[in-house]
Amino acid sequence: MLEKKFIKKELYVFLEKMFVLKDKFANKFYPLTVARKSTKYAKKHFDLIYGFNYKLNVCEVGSYTGMNAGNILNVLPVNKMYIVDGWEEGYAGTNVEKSCRKYLSWRKNQVVIIKKLSDEAVDDIPDDSIDFLYIDADHSYEWVKKDLNNYWGKVRENGIIGGHDYTGLCPDVIKAVNEFAEERGLRLFTMDNDYWFVKGKIVVPLFLNTDGSCGSVEDFEYFMNHNLKPFDTEYYKLIKKVD
Ligand SMILES: C[S@@+](CC[C@H](N)C(=O)[O-])C[C@H]1O[C@@H](n2cnc3c(N)ncnc32)[C@H](O)[C@@H]1O
Repeated sequence: MLEKKFIKKELYVFLEKMFVLKDKFANKFYPLTVARKSTKYAKKHFDLIYGFNYKLNVCEVGSYTGMNAGNILNVLPVNKMYIVDGWEEGYAGTNVEKSCRKYLSWRKNQVVIIKKLSDEAVDDIPDDSIDFLYIDADHSYEWVKKDLNNYWGKVRENGIIGGHDYTGLCPDVIKAVNEFAEERGLRLFTMDNDYWFVKGKIVVPLFLNTDGSCGSVEDFEYFMNHNLKPFDTEYYKLIKKVD
């Protein structure tokens, strides 16, 4: 009996050590996490526009624990990344804020954390400076619309504005995003709960495969010529429009 107890204690000590290690090396596991579709699209978009030696300014509005911010940092070549979050009690709170700060601390030279509500933080970000903006804060119709309008001027020409929860579970997000896209005449892309649009002319016609990887026009034509089913025939229209 005593032995059993001892083994149990040893096991706990071992597990505890493993958890500490897991935390310590959390950032090393970023490559295993999955980037969202707008991020993947953005990578291809900017690779094709700028070549392969460029840096982007990025902003995430609503970061919670920083998980998605970590994915963005992992996938895009980031110069500076603004993290905007109020971490108000009730929804996120101090512990979540702490986790986020810790999670992103290995990138502290690139990350600028702005602990404010999005409509106040907007003044801390220079106009025309952001290449990739990701909105995932308050999901009510009013706030999504407000965030889109407030941060629009922060995004550079050819930049991408994306966001999360474009899903039937968040009809407010869908309504606000659809309206915004229509008001500004933007081509709206949606996939796997993500939405995004390019600010300005779409210079790089792309489509996404079902696994979220991007293809070029040539790939797309190959799909069409071989009667394979691309993800969304809308992309075909887009490509034709750009041609
Ligand atoms: C859905 S979570 C973000 C999840 C995160 N983007 C991810 O995918 O890992 C929403 C976050 O937005 C923050 N938030 C909600 N309303 C906000 C507002 N008006 N301004 C700033 N942050 C806000 C909350 O504190 C919360 O941390």
